[in-house]
Amino acid sequence: MKLKMLLFLSISCLSACWMPTKPEASLYIRLGGKPILEVISSDLLDATSSDERTKRSFKDVKLSTVKESLTLYLCEKTGGNCIYEGETMKNSHADAKITTAEFELMVQQLRDVLDAHNIGYREKNELLKILAPTKRDIVTPHAFNN
Ligand code: HEM
Repeated sequence: MKLKMLLFLSISCLSACWMPTKPEASLYIRLGGKPILEVISSDLLDATSSDERTKRSFKDVKLSTVKESLTLYLCEKTGGNCIYEGETMKNSHADAKITTAEFELMVQQLRDVLDAHNIGYREKNELLKILAPTKRDIVTPHAFNN
């Protein structure tokens, strides 16, 4: 009886252990793909370029072009099937001498946009975690423009 039980348990374990696990969908898919990234990029850049505390560097910038670039950047970084061919984060932000305060305000604006579009807690944090390391390339050390 014990032997039968043992055999039964080993067979059920084997079949369960060999079940191929479904790979998790990319962050890009879980966020909602290109359409939601377009909306997020657009809303974020509208917020950053109109907020008194962050609008300074957008004075001579064609917003629609940056929106398209940011969408492709986010698409690529979240595992979407896009190729970002723009400048590096270092090159595209160097002239503007972005401060730590400006960077942190933009991150808060991004949180607000993600909340406004009901992006899940997990997806929101995954995206913020992907973007966090860009700070060292985007912020100019000791910049003080405000
Ligand atoms: C997570 C942080 C950020 C990311 C991922 C990001 C991403 C980008 C991307 C992808 C571009 C387009 C570059 C190209 O097409 O070559 C861009 C351009 C730009 N970004 Fe950011 N950015 C960030 C933070 C900021 C902050 C904090 C500011 C200012 C408050 C800012 C201001 C600008 C401006 C003004 C441009 C246009 C530069 C130009 O065309 O001369 N960015 N950014």
